[in-house]
Amino acid sequence: MAKCILVLNGPNLNLLGAREPQIYGSTSLPDIERSLTADAAARAARVSFFQSNHEGALVDRVQAARTDGVDFIIINAGALTHTSIGLRDALAAVAIPFIEVHLSNVHRRESFRHRSYLADLAVGVITGLGPAGYRCALQYALDSDQD
Ligand code: DQA
Repeated sequence: MAKCILVLNGPNLNLLGAREPQIYGSTSLPDIERSLTADAAARAARVSFFQSNHEGALVDRVQAARTDGVDFIIINAGALTHTSIGLRDALAAVAIPFIEVHLSNVHRRESFRHRSYLADLAVGVITGLGPAGYRCALQYALDSDQD
């Protein structure tokens, strides 16, 4: 069976490319999604995408992953990383392995970005590599036996 990877993006990541480009770069979210789609196709895997500015919508999507065959989640929860116990609990509840990704290096930024409510549940965290972080996470997910 083809591996099925879900890529989740949280608040304000729909603005990538236009939003604070000195921090987040000039690549848009559709650009990132296109490159991940190509990488997944090259490995005969399936990748799907969901972005929302709403915490509850992300929780709903994580819960749905429990029954729709998702093997691995790649998540950039944006600011919800630093605030959302609800999203943490959803990821814990579905028990699907996931990697936390950030475009910027959150540890070089404000101290409120240093805390993650997700990181200790994650298989790993990639922070500061820009769009390459998503691609590294995808390669890991495709190589991984955790499904
Ligand atoms: C981010 C870092 C977060 O602190 C911030 O709130 C974001 C983006 C990143 O990708 O670098 O929205 O997750």
